[in-house]
Amino acid sequence: MALTGKTALVTGAARGIGRAIALRLAQDGADLALMDLSDDVNGTADAVRALGVRAFAVQADVSDAAAVTEAVATLTTELAAIDILVNNAALVKNIAPVGKMAAADWETEIAVNLNGPFNLIRAVIEPMAEAGWGRIINISSVAARGGLHYQAGYSASKSGVLGLTHTVTLEYARFGVTCNAVLPGVIETENVKAMPKAVSESVKAMVPARRLGQVDEVAHLVAFLASEEAGFISGAEIDIDGGTRLNALTLGSRAELKERADALARAFD
Ligand SMILES: NC(=O)c1ccc[n+]([C@@H]2O[C@H](COP(=O)([O-])OP(=O)(O)OC[C@H]3O[C@@H](n4cnc5c(N)ncnc54)[C@H](O)[C@@H]3O)[C@@H](O)[C@H]2O)c1
Repeated sequence: MALTGKTALVTGAARGIGRAIALRLAQDGADLALMDLSDDVNGTADAVRALGVRAFAVQADVSDAAAVTEAVATLTTELAAIDILVNNAALVKNIAPVGKMAAADWETEIAVNLNGPFNLIRAVIEPMAEAGWGRIINISSVAARGGLHYQAGYSASKSGVLGLTHTVTLEYARFGVTCNAVLPGVIETENVKAMPKAVSESVKAMVPARRLGQVDEVAHLVAFLASEEAGFISGAEIDIDGGTRLNALTLGSRAELKERADALARAFD
């Protein structure tokens, strides 16, 4: 299998997209180092082991640099040096216009969503460079490019991830380490499935593909970026959004966009 002999670290692996990525990399033969705040990460480890590869899970906060250093040391001892890093853990702490956003919420979003990937990259990249091979995949968002109404902290953190991705490429591509960003549109995780039907229908109406993305679709893309074949792709920003970026997905103008999308659909579908 494509990733046999490699060890992949996935953050935020307890559920959602992170869990799907972990299972997909395991299907390709990688051993899995799993990190999450939630102890549900142990359930993902069990599911990974059932696929016939090794897995070890740690509960750690990606925003805590010392905890990340310690967790990576544990994972490396239990499994092996990390060959593939997927920075997936992230959160939305606050939904409010900038003027009403609590500073502490902004700081939490930056700490988890941007400092987190930095902490993880810092902990694994020098050994990758010494080995002459590494793959880093940062999960960003469509919100990185066009902004997102009432989510300034989340959007800014995801834009920051793009700058981090570019710079890691400039510094480490020469050592065989690639670093890419994946920008999902709305993906049908358990949380997203829990949205009121009216909201999810209006979101779908703005997606040129007229549907939400699936966690496995993101996982397949990540698996390709982790593969040998993707060795000349680095510093890329890869959208996986059914074309949503072309419609400037925004929470605030959703009704207006839906009206426009419906009118266009009536005219051309
Ligand atoms: N679901 C979507 O529609 C969507 C769209 C665009 C981008 N994304 C991005 O995809 C990634 C995964 O999203 P998801 O929808 O699966 O999220 P999710 O909320 O379902 O899962 C996130 C996981 O990260 C963990 N986590 C949160 N904070 C952490 C911390 N400080 N330390 C360690 N673990 C922590 C959570 O416990 C959880 O298991 C995120 O980076 C998210 O921003 C998701």
